[in-house]
Amino acid sequence: MARILVISYSQTGQLDRAARAMLSPLADDPGFEIVWERLAPQTPYRFPWRFLDFFDTFPETVHLDAPALRPTTFDPDARYDLVILAYTVWFLSPALPVTAFLKSPAARVLAGKPVITLIACRNMWLSAQETVKELLVARGARLIDNVVLIDQGPTWATFVTTPRWLLTGRKQGFWRVFPPAGVSEQAIAASARFGRALRDARDLIESGATEPLLFGLAAVQVNPAYIASERLGKRSFLIWGRLLRGLGQPGNAARRAVLIVYILFLVTLILTIVPLGVLARKMLRPLIRTRIEREVTRLEAPSGSGVERIAKYMQG
Ligand SMILES: Cc1cc2nc3c(=O)[nH]c(=O)nc-3n(C[C@H](O)[C@H](O)[C@H](O)COP(=O)(O)O)c2cc1C
Repeated sequence: MARILVISYSQTGQLDRAARAMLSPLADDPGFEIVWERLAPQTPYRFPWRFLDFFDTFPETVHLDAPALRPTTFDPDARYDLVILAYTVWFLSPALPVTAFLKSPAARVLAGKPVITLIACRNMWLSAQETVKELLVARGARLIDNVVLIDQGPTWATFVTTPRWLLTGRKQGFWRVFPPAGVSEQAIAASARFGRALRDARDLIESGATEPLLFGLAAVQVNPAYIASERLGKRSFLIWGRLLRGLGQPGNAARRAVLIVYILFLVTLILTIVPLGVLARKMLRPLIRTRIEREVTRLEAPSGSGVERIAKYMQG
């Protein structure tokens, strides 16, 4: 029997639903046993978020200064053939409870194990996954696959719908032009294709998978336009985050005053410099095409964006 450990943290339950949909083909299969572990911080993060609390979380998030977690309930010393780490992205970094887990003693469960990451986020996950890769290597884990689900709608729409959802809890579409916030129900349901592929790969899982199991299923797709924007954003978060942490703990009055200045700076950056940068890079693209293509392939690894097995696994 193949034993799979699923570790996740989800505030609204969206990511948990995605993980359940993904593994639904294995749920009644006697060849698989699934152990679910939902991470919970000692002090829960409020949902919906208060505006300043939301931004005040970024310095600790990008500097991987993780909060205390409630004790986990799974046995980290038991046998698992595969670990699925389901996480969301906060400020181009893994969500703090997931960072907390990866740095905790319970993360010894990852040593020597194949790991599949499952991400559900707005659309900017590249830097977060680079960080998670480093944390996984530090725990001796082997990343064999990465599955990414992103929020529905074009970038300009999710720039409105995702923050609106996080700050007010309102998820439904509005004004006819804005779709509902979050990952579409179709995309969540369609992630069952990954579970079907895992079902067929049981022997490989039991013998300790070393190669991708979810290739050819459109597991990820890197938008080249985000590569440089994420790099710029992450650098800005790290610099301002260091300054804000120097001013005090989250909630400190001086820190909040500087935070407001930074929020104004950030919004100006996103509305001016980022689109100009995207335009400039579009014009430069013919000159640096090979370099971008190489970077896209690296970021899409290990599962890749191929679709050659979709038809086989899309239907139950
Ligand atoms: C504090 C915070 C920061 C976020 N930053 C990002 C981000 O940088 N990139 C992104 O694609 N999504 C970002 N999101 C959206 C989340 O990745 C995720 O889609 C959303 O929080 C719902 O996840 P849930 O399953 O925990 O409810 C952020 C969400 C929160 C709460």
